[in-house]
Amino acid sequence: MANECQCKKNEITREQLAQIDSIIERYGARQNYLILVLKETQELFGYLPAQIQRYIARGLNLNPSQVFGVVSFYSFFTMVPRGRHTIRVCLGTACYVKRSDEVLEKLKDKLDVEVGKMTQDGRYSLESVRCLGACGLAPVVVVDNDTHGAVDSVKIMDIINQYN
Ligand code: FES
Repeated sequence: MANECQCKKNEITREQLAQIDSIIERYGARQNYLILVLKETQELFGYLPAQIQRYIARGLNLNPSQVFGVVSFYSFFTMVPRGRHTIRVCLGTACYVKRSDEVLEKLKDKLDVEVGKMTQDGRYSLESVRCLGACGLAPVVVVDNDTHGAVDSVKIMDIINQYN
């Protein structure tokens, strides 16, 4: 039986709820499949807002705080919509001393977006991270799965303009 949603109707449709139900059912509503259920649900919606997390929690008979704990722990889960491309600027020590903060400020200014948010046109999401494991290339920016090293506040715009 489908679990009931307290979500506002205009946020999540019945069809979408049915899709989440089928994901949960496919994993036998077993709690130890939470990460897989979350992963498939995020593929469906693009992100995992609080309403969806609560719905999944009910479906797996978990406390919503347990679901939130997993979503917030793993960086591949997001609670906000992501743009077509995700830009991650490293603010770890090796990158910071090479002025990655200036790269981040340039992006915020030129794209008119705050860290953790998506641009108005849905093209980019901007994130800051603490070390991407490529300190020898500092300062480092990763766009989607591409690592760009020795980036500066001038080069960065040429780099991101390659991503439509
Ligand atoms: S500090 Fe930036 S990649 Fe390590």
